[in-house]
This record gives sequence, C-alpha cells and structure tokens, in this order.
Amino acid sequence: MDVQQLQSTAQALVVEGKGILAADESTGTIKKRLDSIGVESTEETRRAYRELLFTTEGAEEFISGVILYDETIRQSASDGTPFPKLLASKGVIPGIKVDTGAKPLALTDGETITEGLDGLRDRLEEYRELGARFAKWRATYSIAHDKPSEYCVWTNAHALARYAALCQEAGLVPIVEPEVLQDGTHTIAESRKATGRVLQAVYTELHDQRLDFRGTLLKPNMVLSGYDASDRASADEVADVTLECLYKHVPAAVPGIVFLSGGQSDEDATAHLNAMNARGPHPWQLSFSYGRALQAPALKAWGGKEESVEAAQRAYYHRAKMNSAARTGMYAPEMERQAVTA
Ligand code: 13P
Repeated sequence: MDVQQLQSTAQALVVEGKGILAADESTGTIKKRLDSIGVESTEETRRAYRELLFTTEGAEEFISGVILYDETIRQSASDGTPFPKLLASKGVIPGIKVDTGAKPLALTDGETITEGLDGLRDRLEEYRELGARFAKWRATYSIAHDKPSEYCVWTNAHALARYAALCQEAGLVPIVEPEVLQDGTHTIAESRKATGRVLQAVYTELHDQRLDFRGTLLKPNMVLSGYDASDRASADEVADVTLECLYKHVPAAVPGIVFLSGGQSDEDATAHLNAMNARGPHPWQLSFSYGRALQAPALKAWGGKEESVEAAQRAYYHRAKMNSAARTGMYAPEMERQAVTA
C-alpha cells in the first residue's frame, strides 16, 4: 500500500475552497429525482443530466472530485469523451460508489446492512482502470428508542472497514459513509448519541482492520434534530454539537470530513458547514460531499429541456460557489440574494 499516494489524493479532495459533488445516485434513486421533474429515466436522460453537471464551466474552482455510479463511469459526453477523462482534464478527481445498497438486516425490525463485498477486489481493480481514484460506501442507521441496535452498528462498521481495507489495497481512497438518518422527531441530543455510537464502532473496526487513517475520508451526517421535530436546533447549536461529537470520535490523522447533505435544504446545508468552519481551525478539513444540496436547484431549472441547460448550469455553479465559501466560514445568506438579483 502506497500511503503517500493515498494521502495526497485524500488531501487533494479536501483542498481549501473545494468539495465533492456526489453524482452517484443508483438507477432507482436517479429515477426518483428525474420523476420529480417529469423526465423519464432512460440511459440517455441520465447521461445528459450528468453531462450538464460535469461540463459546467468553472465548477472546478469549487469542486475537487465527483462520485460516479457504475453506469456513469462507463458513459461519455456527447463529443465522445468518457466522463472520467472529461473530469480529469479539468483537474477533477473521479470517484465511484461501490456498495450495492442497504438491504434489510436479518432478524431486525427494519434496520439495514449495506451489501457489496463479494467480488469487490476485482471491481475495484476495474474501476481504477476506468480512472477512479477514490470510492464510497454508505451505511444507514435510523434513530428510534431501540435504534440503531448494537447489532446494526457493529455489522455495518465491520462491512465499512472491510470495504475500506480493500480500497487502500487497490490504491483508492475510501470515503467511509456512516449515515445516521435524520428523519423523524428525535432531539439533537438523541442524534448526538446515535452518531457518537456509530462513529466509535466505525473507528474501532477501521483500526482493527489495519486502515491507515491518513489515506481515508469520513462522510458523516451532521447532528440535527429530526426533520419532523417540533423544536429544531439552530445552526449554531448544530455546529457546536456536531463538532463536539467529531472531536470525541474522529482521529486527527483523518485528513478530511466531507459531510453529506441528507435531505437538509440547500441553504441549511451551506449555513451549517459555514458555522462549523467559522469555529476553526480544526484537526481535519471540514468540507462537503453533497448530492441533493448541490443538485436540487439545477435539476429543477433543467426540467429535461435542452434550452434550460445553461440555467441549470448556473444554478449548480452557484451552489458550488456558496459551499466553497462555507469551507472558509465566509458564507453569508445575503450572498444568495445578491446572486438572484445579479
Ligand atoms: P446527499 O447530500 O443528497 O445526502 O447525498 C450524498 C450521498 O452521497 C448520499 O450517499
């Protein structure tokens, strides 16, 4: 294992002012996104939508890497350039989602285990040949009085570490994504407790399975009150509680923490990241690896229409720029309004 090469890829992904675009929606998930704008999900509409994002001029000022899906890493732009090559030509690092999804965990009441370990060594080798330099695996956990169970926490941590070790062996930086879902009516304290338990198990397994933390990135949820809670925590509280949790559970050798947006509004995801960076410096870079929070306005502006591609690209560029500002604590909500009136 070449730790230096892994570390330099990880550091490039969290270089100052930049973050990651998660464009790795599975075929089922991207269908839901396209359904929401009345566009039929076909191989061609999925390709056209991803091309719109990847060819947005100037986005590379704010975007260090893009996570692709198995179908997407094999697709090309209209001029025939394979997507990984197109991204690399702009200095954007291609990555790949390698889990095969969260499935019901046997003998639990609705908890999940993420699958995809069988044959993973061979798949990683192929993805590397296709241009990927990092990978992602997502585990999910729900919050309820008896959830997440210890069983769910530890089986997913074990699988995440097996995936991460195979990635380092193959020369790919593993993005380790344990997502404690923030749906429901839980308090921020309950989210803090669940997130801490999950992170503790993940770092125990990563250590036991011989990972070198310098060549990894963490992609966690922010610690929030439930989306349906009656009394929701403020941005300052989210920043304080999330940071306290991360300081307690994430080793300083990890180069960066790249949050998922997880269903927060675009502007909340930006404001929360900004509030955390405003409290820096921290032992790790604090950045973003957003799917919905980077793409939602672009998807809406596009609506599947060729004549709306530019408007969609402007919307994506704007969100990337706002999140770049949040990397240094320099974001202010007024910047949203200035953009609208500009
Ligand atoms: P969201 O930012 O939409 O949560 O997506 C990030 C991601 O990659 C989820 O696995």
